Amino acid sequence: MRYPIYRPRRLRANENIRRMVRETALSPDDLIMPFFVRPGRAVRKAISSMPGNYQLSVDELVKDARKAADLGVPAIILFGIPSKKDPAGTEGYKKNNIVARATKAIKDKVDDLVVITDVCLCEYTDHGHCGVVRKKKGGDFTIDNDATLELLAKMALSHVEAGADMVAPSDMMDGRIGALREALDGNGFSEIPIMAYAAKYASAFYGPFREAAESPPQFGDRRSYQMDPSNSDEVIREVALDIEEGADIVMVKPALPYLDIIFRVKQEFGYPVAAYNVSGEFSMVKAAAERDWVDEKKVALEMLMSIKRAGADMILTYCAMEAARWLA
Ligand code: PBG
Repeated sequence: MRYPIYRPRRLRANENIRRMVRETALSPDDLIMPFFVRPGRAVRKAISSMPGNYQLSVDELVKDARKAADLGVPAIILFGIPSKKDPAGTEGYKKNNIVARATKAIKDKVDDLVVITDVCLCEYTDHGHCGVVRKKKGGDFTIDNDATLELLAKMALSHVEAGADMVAPSDMMDGRIGALREALDGNGFSEIPIMAYAAKYASAFYGPFREAAESPPQFGDRRSYQMDPSNSDEVIREVALDIEEGADIVMVKPALPYLDIIFRVKQEFGYPVAAYNVSGEFSMVKAAAERDWVDEKKVALEMLMSIKRAGADMILTYCAMEAARWLA
């Protein structure tokens, strides 16, 4: 087809025309702010590799959750840091665990804020893996997939009983969405949606998060349960499985190095897609901005826009509150 008289520049002539033909809009409505919560009172411990982010005690977290809501950010996601870790990650699902307490406090004090909770063992296990580890001879190990499912279901229940509006399993065990759906439905929580980390890559971009959540694996790596960055068809199978098991929102993680995956998942399934602009992506912008190598605000907003344009309906990002301020 030929378009003999089309001149793209005509539509770029001034800001009003650009606004009229703009295809993607970014707003605070699209953003989800992650928070790290730890035991104690009046704790606000800076995470050095993620400037502007903190490990917060519940009282401090409530203040920041209030700020997020005031800025128009519709949802936050909570990661817990326990007072002690053990091989089974007990602190993650015991009664009154740190995330349950934080959830309850926020739901009591902050209206109109959706609380999503991360469901995974790695922050709570002393070995730092996302599931129950079975050691084999010669230092090798395997993850006991099915034993892990039970613990994840317990964790999810403890969060929604405390008032969580949504759970987000990030462990990548097989069958976890079905296991969580069953546990929620069986306990009167059939209205609670599941945001599945459906396409989670074994990525080096999680580095700063592992400092933030104090969760680096003590041996081995996560390649037996996270996806190989070379693969894209595999994502379709992972997402299909999660949707079949009951996922309401499917996530792609990380975001920027995987924009093609976000696009593909959105095209293929037409489901709500969340993208996780992970710690490494965030920290690289901060580091470059500190050296005045890039314009932080412009670069960050361009990145978020690209993630949206690729097909994400929502973005989990550590700059959610800053971006909401910039977009106001
Ligand atoms: C695992 C989990 C991770 C992140 C979120 N949930 C880390 C991992 O798999 O190692 C990373 C998020 C980020 O880097 O911002 N529970």
